[in-house]
Amino acid sequence: MARRRQIFEGKAKVIFEGPEPGTIVQHFKDDASAFNAKKIGTITGKGVINNRISEHLMTKLGDIGIPTHFMRRLNMREQLVREVEIIPIEVVVRNIVAGSLAKRFGMPEGTPLPRSIIETYYKSSELDDPMINEEHITAFGWATPPELDEMMSLTLRINDFMSGLFLGVGIRLVDFKLEFGRLWEDDQMRIVLADEISPDNCRFWDTKTDEKMDKDRFRDDMGGVEEAYQEVARRLGILPESGPTDMKGPELMQ
Ligand code: TMP
Repeated sequence: MARRRQIFEGKAKVIFEGPEPGTIVQHFKDDASAFNAKKIGTITGKGVINNRISEHLMTKLGDIGIPTHFMRRLNMREQLVREVEIIPIEVVVRNIVAGSLAKRFGMPEGTPLPRSIIETYYKSSELDDPMINEEHITAFGWATPPELDEMMSLTLRINDFMSGLFLGVGIRLVDFKLEFGRLWEDDQMRIVLADEISPDNCRFWDTKTDEKMDKDRFRDDMGGVEEAYQEVARRLGILPESGPTDMKGPELMQ
């Protein structure tokens, strides 16, 4: 296989130049990080599962008319996506109190929110992803008011759809993080959903037992991390046919 140009290596993914202009390849690694990379480790098979889960969710979201960067899965660890200009904002949606919201306001984890809360954070590891509001976003030019409106409206649709989808398989969608990008087609620009949606950037709790089925198991050394990721995929009906014994997938090609 020809060597591909690596564009960027992140904590959980490597980004390569795609086969055609305007495309890139997302390679999902097993590497895991938490607390802004203060904690790092490996979750065996995570890359394979996240590649599948993100493919599944982005495809379903596409089916209901949400524009996404996803094109197609290439192999067990890689997917082809459209190259977009990433907007440097993390959009977090919360349906139930957990994580940093619980800490910030001293609220017990698990408290249902009367309505979904959307928060925005500036994507900057050096600054520890500070929380920002609309004023910062528009004043510093990270997104224009219409772009922000579009991101918020897409986020609410994504939350409604995903909450229902996961509830149907016995999982509460507690909170999650989204990223958006600008997709240029001729002179037209569209805001599209980008990055990934997986147990790395969502909180999933079992509806019956409240058991955590996401990266919190890694963050808090709870054990059963691999099994939790596999269980999310299994409930969505997308475990690789070969089953969890074949989760290593191909090695990273550079
Ligand atoms: P938090 O409670 O730590 O603020 O996280 C809220 C949600 O956003 C949770 O599902 C994890 C996700 N998230 C990321 O994907 N990346 C991040 O850098 C942070 C801080 C949160």
